[in-house]
Amino acid sequence: MQSIELSQTAAQKTKDQAKLKVAPAYDSILELAPYQTGKPVEELTREYGISDVVKLASNENPIGCSPQVTLAITEQLGQLARYPDGKGYYLKQALSDFNNIDIECITLGNGANDLLDILARSFVGSEDAIVYSQYAFVVYSMLAKMQGATGIEVPAQRFGHDLIAMRQAVDDNPNTKIVFIANPNNPTGTQLEREELHKFVASLPSSVLVVLDEAYVEYSPESNNRALLDEFDNVVIVRTFSKAYGLAGLRIGYALSSAPIADLLNRIRQPFNVSRIGLAAANAALADQDFIEKVRDTNQEQRRWLEKQFDALGLGFIKSHANFIMVEIEVEMEDTTAAVIHQALLEQGVIVRPLAGYGLSNWLRITVGVAEDNMRLIDTLRSILTDD
Ligand SMILES: Cc1ncc(COP(=O)(O)O)c(C=O)c1O
Repeated sequence: MQSIELSQTAAQKTKDQAKLKVAPAYDSILELAPYQTGKPVEELTREYGISDVVKLASNENPIGCSPQVTLAITEQLGQLARYPDGKGYYLKQALSDFNNIDIECITLGNGANDLLDILARSFVGSEDAIVYSQYAFVVYSMLAKMQGATGIEVPAQRFGHDLIAMRQAVDDNPNTKIVFIANPNNPTGTQLEREELHKFVASLPSSVLVVLDEAYVEYSPESNNRALLDEFDNVVIVRTFSKAYGLAGLRIGYALSSAPIADLLNRIRQPFNVSRIGLAAANAALADQDFIEKVRDTNQEQRRWLEKQFDALGLGFIKSHANFIMVEIEVEMEDTTAAVIHQALLEQGVIVRPLAGYGLSNWLRITVGVAEDNMRLIDTLRSILTDD
């Protein structure tokens, strides 16, 4: 039982668009494909009738969230008829203490994605350009299309950001307004050296905004570049509660920047863009740093275990600094491509992320699970690859 009936085919949608008399704001909107999310567990259960599903496709935290969050959420349940605090005062206060930054420099978002979107809408017009790396988080190129702006994709170097080439791209495109950098990067897991990044930011004109996407910073404290904000007014750091904090389902993230930039972002964001439950949950989650330490340690231990298993299976992978690993499927079996392996895994209840959309059709991105999930993945993968 497939879900094809539920959605129109891409070709049909293109035809329907051609008939539409109201043109979208920019032609580039027609080039956009909806963001591909990891397959939800419920969908796999519906399609294949498998109830015992392991999802390693969206870099979620398999441990869940801090137990303190449940308590904080429960306390809010009697207040759901009331709007949340639109300024998010208590969460901002806690983030201000945690990040040692003025409360005026914080913007809250409905996930990090909301903030990336607010940044693009605040600063990028159709005459402007956005610079990002090949294999960087796909949303950056989508934002350029959404704004009718020019997206400049700079070839990656060993799957990571090539900052020298990105610097050159800014020179070559004087209309550049934002440079997006994911550190660690999704889907490659690569990380930039602090000094290298500092040199890059220092070399840029102050009229170019550098947005550092630190969605995975809790997994790799060396990727924390908060210090750049003390020196440069044109840096924005975006973070999320979706990954290590285990609150992806609640949609909450934040941006750190100079106060004038935060002031602009706050004008653009929707009123009440973070829910009452989201605010309370994030506050409780932030307060439980012991939980985050446990999450980081477990991730590191399990990531190492997975690396050893991939080695043993003869699969190449990119050294990751986050909670996922990009694995190369280049085996000697005939007709065995990453897409085939992805499908075979799905049919056995294991969801991973194919990367053909990134131009990485030989690769799969696999989120690091808890020990039991990872063993299931490896056993299933081994049986597919060795055909037993
Ligand atoms: C690099 C990066 N930035 C931002 C996001 C968006 O996260 P959120 O769930 O907070 O919108 C993700 C999610 O996968 C990500 O990988």
